[in-house]
Amino acid sequence: MSIKQTLLLVAASWLVAVTNLCAADAPANWSKNCASCHAMDGSGSTRMGRQVGAKDYRDAKVQAEMKDDAALKALKDGIQAKGKEVMKPFKDKLTEDELKALVAHMRTFKK
Ligand code: HEC
Repeated sequence: MSIKQTLLLVAASWLVAVTNLCAADAPANWSKNCASCHAMDGSGSTRMGRQVGAKDYRDAKVQAEMKDDAALKALKDGIQAKGKEVMKPFKDKLTEDELKALVAHMRTFKK
């Protein structure tokens, strides 16, 4: 194998490793940014979650009402209820890919 081929191979495997790491980040991002309101299991049963009216994302009906594109938009722009911000926008905090991975992660809460 030439040096060039070796370098390419190293670069390629590095890229795969980084991509895998990012996907695996959803649970960590959830615990860090979302669980305070939505709870680790998506039930929204934390003190803050009850205060702001977080839904129970284990509920199949709530899951069916959640649409991927609307969920992504809500995550980017935040959510207002009765003129108050109940969820802040995350577009400056997390990347589009991270937000999509979080929506996918939320689907796993369904019971
Ligand atoms: C300060 C509390 C709070 C935090 C923190 C929070 N949320 Fe929310 N979120 C809410 C509330 C309240 C709603 C509206 C009621 C509901 O859908 O549970 C909501 C709604 C949503 C929706 C909208 C679903 C739909 O039907 O369109 C998604 C998706 C969502 N949250 C994901 C997240 C993710 C992912 C995070 C972390 C990056 C997060 N939330 C952090 C309070 C919060």
